[in-house]
Amino acid sequence: MNGHDRNMQAHRSHSTSMVFLLGVVLLTIIHLVNTTVPCTENNSKILQKGVKLARLMNRTTADITKTYQAYQGDFVEQFCKMSMDNVPASTLSGRTSSERVLSIYTHLKEFLPHVKKVLEQQNDLQPPSSPLLPVLSQLKEQINHLAQRVNCIFQILQPNILVPEPPAWPTRIPPAQNIFQQKVYGCVVLTRLSEFLSATLEELRSLKGSMGKKRTGKELLSNSWN
Ligand SMILES: *[C@@H]1O[C@H](CO)[C@@H](O)[C@H](O)[C@H]1NC(C)=O
Ligand SMILES: *[C@@H]1O[C@H](CO)[C@@H](O)[C@H](O)[C@H]1NC(C)=O
Repeated sequence: MNGHDRNMQAHRSHSTSMVFLLGVVLLTIIHLVNTTVPCTENNSKILQKGVKLARLMNRTTADITKTYQAYQGDFVEQFCKMSMDNVPASTLSGRTSSERVLSIYTHLKEFLPHVKKVLEQQNDLQPPSSPLLPVLSQLKEQINHLAQRVNCIFQILQPNILVPEPPAWPTRIPPAQNIFQQKVYGCVVLTRLSEFLSATLEELRSLKGSMGKKRTGKELLSNSWN
């Protein structure tokens, strides 16, 4: 490590925890995104990386949600639990592993336009220097990236079925909102996403557990249809 790096580190330790979070997210993204070529790795590797990314996202999204709340000014956490029909649910559906993996994929695609909208709104509400903006923008990239990995995992489970790409999504982005409604909407999106990522992590972990017992994709497949 050269002096420059050391200086950067010293500097970082004096900065806010948000800047630290940003650094961690950036470094990990670079690490994870470097290996983007989808579905060419062997099965255990694909699952392993999926779990790793889901774990990272589960952690950072919880942090981002807290930071989001802190940056909205006078804001009560209770708002984030409000029921909002247009925001995707945080629970997975499906009886079998492949159905649930498909449900993860569908949810990720559904969350994406909402996270984009939240980023857009925060772009207007926050000063350009707000650390919330880059982390939200990275979250968007991570969602895309996890969707790619989950797509590959689905192909392990169902080698002969193409992941059904949904037609034009009914994104159900809320129409014009006042500033307060925007803040609440953003927090509901992030809170649901956070809960959904926890369920996703759990599902991928259990899949890894069953594949770790040397079951092939084929065995998992017949398993998952019984
Ligand atoms: C998968 O790849 C890893 C490393 O690339 C290797 O250690 C492992 O033996 C491979 N597993 C199979 C089943 O090919
Ligand atoms: C996801 O992160 C939250 C917050 O850090 C944690 O409480 C939860 O246990 C995590 N989920 C899983 C499945 O590990």
